[in-house]
Amino acid sequence: MIKYIGSKRVLVPHIVRAISAFPESGRVLDLFSGTSRVARGLKETGRHVIANDHLAYAATLARCYVQADAGRWLHEATQLIAELATIAPEPGYFTKAFCEDARYFQSKNGARVDAIREEITRRALPPELEAIALVSLMEAADRVDSTTGVQMAYLKQWAARAYNDLQLRVPAILPGAGEALHLDAVEAASRVEADIAYIDPPYNQHSYMGNYHVWESLVRWDKPETYGIANKRVQCKEYKSDFNSKRRIRQGLRDVFDAVLCKHLLVSFNNEGHVDREEMIALLSEKGHVGVVAVDFKRYVGAQIGIHNPNGEKVGKVSHLRNKEYFFVVSERRDTVDSVVRAIESSIQDAALASSAAKGKRKGHESERRVE
Ligand SMILES: C[S@@+](CC[C@H](N)C(=O)[O-])C[C@H]1O[C@@H](n2cnc3c(N)ncnc32)[C@H](O)[C@@H]1O
Repeated sequence: MIKYIGSKRVLVPHIVRAISAFPESGRVLDLFSGTSRVARGLKETGRHVIANDHLAYAATLARCYVQADAGRWLHEATQLIAELATIAPEPGYFTKAFCEDARYFQSKNGARVDAIREEITRRALPPELEAIALVSLMEAADRVDSTTGVQMAYLKQWAARAYNDLQLRVPAILPGAGEALHLDAVEAASRVEADIAYIDPPYNQHSYMGNYHVWESLVRWDKPETYGIANKRVQCKEYKSDFNSKRRIRQGLRDVFDAVLCKHLLVSFNNEGHVDREEMIALLSEKGHVGVVAVDFKRYVGAQIGIHNPNGEKVGKVSHLRNKEYFFVVSERRDTVDSVVRAIESSIQDAALASSAAKGKRKGHESERRVE
């Protein structure tokens, strides 16, 4: 899967344990699905998952990992991807914008991306098959990029992986039904009836459109005008999400919580976000009892590597490498909140024990709890 800020990769097992502890959990709505890691993890447990994101590349990831039924599409997808892998390189929009004007990828790989992307359009595939092909291409490009995990800048010196040849792989799609939506979260929340909504909104000023503009342009293939050293799509200039604004995020969250039709909520939020834990509890209290569990968490890959200027040069120091990820559990029933909080705590403890055992030393798990 692609490198992604705010990805819940290491939290997926805890989220699955939490969802399983609700009294009803057959239908789950993931309102801000991003990479679809969480939605895919839930689909893997046999649940009916509806994954939503307002960006085209993320909705495409959801169509591939949640909506596409492996029973129906895997065979055709494997054949298609094998054919796409043999297409001769042909430089075009992608190579000019992202390998020459900006240097996210080497031109040898850009020219293959261009040729494969044009072929995907030419074939006018059914939506699920097209999504699988696009995800295969996006993930292959991600493995040979030259960034720190965001597309606000590229590295001044090529990353070692950028020298590798682009290689398409068949995405690990799952059998069974699911749905992908490409809507604003408020719209999706007001349309979809499910048992539980998993809500993982952006939490700071960095917009996903700006951070992942290359994937948005690759998936839309609208070949937009671009600007600046990062060569972002012009749309990034006017694109504003409530969740990226310190002033508007409270109203944005309130709108989603008001609109949501699901009985139970599981909300992820970070302690470095625009809204602190007490404010979030106050916002969610309108929906029922609220329980909170905090998990100690490694900061995103860019923060691990360092702070870079638009030329990809390392500047300044990273202040800290760990932060906290909160889980807010919301239900009208207090006993439900209690059991879900306990399930998350056990899951964190099990993971800490397994990790200490693996390292050959014991270490207490780090989480804190509050139920209101
Ligand atoms: C923190 S990320 C979700 C990460 C995801 N859970 C994962 O593990 O990959 C937040 C997501 O919210 C999406 N988003 C931002 N504003 C939105 C809106 N108004 N409606 C729907 N999705 C939105 C972004 O595109 C981004 O993918």
